[in-house]
Amino acid sequence: MKHLLSMEDLSTLEIEQLLDRAAYFKQGGKLEGDKKLYAVNMFFEPSTRTHHSFEMAEKKLGIETISFEPGESSVTKGETLYDTVLTMQALGVDIAVIRHKEEHYYEPLKALDIHVINGGDGCGQHPSQCLLDLFTIKEEFGTFSGKKVVICGDILHSRVANSNMQVLKRLGADIYFSGPREWFDASCAAYGTYLDIDQVVEVADVLMLLRVQHERHQADGAVFSKADYHAQYGLTIERAAKMKKDAIIMHPSPVNRDVEIAGCLVESEQSRIVAQMQNGVFMRMAILEAVLNEKEAEMRVCTL
Ligand code: CP
Repeated sequence: MKHLLSMEDLSTLEIEQLLDRAAYFKQGGKLEGDKKLYAVNMFFEPSTRTHHSFEMAEKKLGIETISFEPGESSVTKGETLYDTVLTMQALGVDIAVIRHKEEHYYEPLKALDIHVINGGDGCGQHPSQCLLDLFTIKEEFGTFSGKKVVICGDILHSRVANSNMQVLKRLGADIYFSGPREWFDASCAAYGTYLDIDQVVEVADVLMLLRVQHERHQADGAVFSKADYHAQYGLTIERAAKMKKDAIIMHPSPVNRDVEIAGCLVESEQSRIVAQMQNGVFMRMAILEAVLNEKEAEMRVCTL
């Protein structure tokens, strides 16, 4: 694949290959080849995990990272995203990892001769988060088939939910949704059923909590106090006690402690929240390798 832009672009085989390669890198595997490669991480929205785990993945693979700060770049003089990425291509950068508030910001960039990896586009997609979530679930259960995955919380604004619901259904999981009813978009009904949090905690194999995205709520005016949200929709200590013993808790982070989840559960035995962050590095190594191997993959297809 030349770019990683949306989970919808990936075949099931490509997803399985990426999961296998992430496992290879987790076991200490190395990137083949000795060509000097360069990546730039262009984050126009705040990020800790995605930005720095891509940077860590690049360093582990021996890829040189070029620094880029939007606020100190010519973006402040009005340069467009396209011209900024074109500049990176002209400088000899091989890969641009980009997070941007505009959904589908990547469309004009597809034709450029630089690999684009989507680090999140507004409320659109977050494919590298989705892939690391898949890796974490597969590591736990060995399969997606028949697993009951509950996606709970701010579904309407979540690129993580968007990416995960489609692909998890495709891989055979049973999807349920929970959280505020007004954040359950009708389009989600094609992928799973809405249930009250007190019903779903008892059946979930995977309880995937979503961050309440306060910064995206200004426009639609949704208001919950932290305590109200936690009591009505959050994973409280009492609800966690009703979960199946082999069920796992996930959250893409950053976590609003004592809102989506009781603070003391973040690092609990059933939580895989820290494991998700750890797995993110290996999954992103696999993604970087996959885009770099695009030409090689094309050649393999041609010779079949
Ligand atoms: N999960 C996630 O995307 O975290 P960051 O916003 O810190 O990158």
